[in-house]
Amino acid sequence: MDQTTPRLLRALAGETLDRPPVWFMRQAGRSLPEYRELRTRAKDFISFCHDPEMAAEATLQPMRRFPMDAAIVFADILLIPGALGQEVWFEAGEGPRLGPLPEIAAMRDAVEGSTAKLSAIGETLKLVRAELEPERALIGFAGGPWTVATYMIEGRGSMREEARSFAYAQPEKLDALLDVLVDSTARYLVMQARSGAQALKIFESWADNLAEDVFERIVIRPHRAIVEKVRAAGVTAPFIGFPRGAGALVDNYAAAVPVEGVALDTQASAALGRRLQAGGKTVQGALDNLLLREGGKALDARVETLLEQWSGGPYIFNLGHGVMPDTPVEHIARVVSRVTGQPVKAFGLQGAGVA
Ligand code: CP3
Repeated sequence: MDQTTPRLLRALAGETLDRPPVWFMRQAGRSLPEYRELRTRAKDFISFCHDPEMAAEATLQPMRRFPMDAAIVFADILLIPGALGQEVWFEAGEGPRLGPLPEIAAMRDAVEGSTAKLSAIGETLKLVRAELEPERALIGFAGGPWTVATYMIEGRGSMREEARSFAYAQPEKLDALLDVLVDSTARYLVMQARSGAQALKIFESWADNLAEDVFERIVIRPHRAIVEKVRAAGVTAPFIGFPRGAGALVDNYAAAVPVEGVALDTQASAALGRRLQAGGKTVQGALDNLLLREGGKALDARVETLLEQWSGGPYIFNLGHGVMPDTPVEHIARVVSRVTGQPVKAFGLQGAGVA
């Protein structure tokens, strides 16, 4: 690949680079004061996601502050249930709430029209792509079907025992729900790629605590189906799969799902990442988001360790989970500056003393 190809895409194509590309999960929103200001202007979080001008602004805010190698579109994994006819809202200070699960047949009928209901996200991607420098990549995303299903079944964020029990109590119903989600998610990702997303990430945030056979059925199989459907539509953008919490089952995941990149969570060992790289995957991760918030010498040391352990193969520097809302901006700047070798001063942080 030539030098003008965004670093993120070169890493996902399997290149070992002179330094890894860097971006952070949940870099848009939450921790930035300018995001909180923008947020006050939106009626609610869902309307914010469906407003291309505002969502593009939120996507670009971290790109102005930090020399991140990639932007991730400002949206949420819970927009799909909304597009399938389930009510979704965010309770201030508490998180997502969903209305009763619609009948599977009704949701299956809604799949066809679901992408049109998410067209605002395509508009956001076009606006961002038009502003973002060509050497910085734009990432589109969706939730993993199982993770989205846990919210749809339980109606809120939780310990997910109810959803995991559902996998045993009503296997046919869960499989039917996952099929609907695979289909709508694949269409949504195709739309995102056609609107300017250059890489596609599947956030399976609740891939923990699953037995090996269940993991195969409700995580691996749906992810493989999504990638195959998106590829069948002619989309060539690389995928990053994020089976968070999968532990030892990450090897099963990497062997069976044709994603180019595997995002690793905080627990990932150096050996696991190297094993995946040797098997032809690009690895992404896995700095502890709590350590990023705390900062100090321990943070600096961990950044060096991660760079050392995985820079010998295709690697994308990132967190093991999203940026915590109360993370000091200076800590983000310091890490991004270290990884990129670029002073963050140039990106609007004068006087922060981080360069
Ligand atoms: O990464 C980014 O910067 C892009 C945007 C993005 C958001 N959510 C914006 C958001 C992405 C990639 C997500 C993914 C997401 N959403 C996941 C998977 C990743 C993960 O962190 O596990 C999940 C589980 C959700 C569902 C969700 N959305 C929850 C549980 C919450 C409430 C708690 C929280 O994290 O704030 C949200 C809200 C949400 N999604 C916010 C943002 C910026 C905060 C909303 C606000 O401003 O009030």
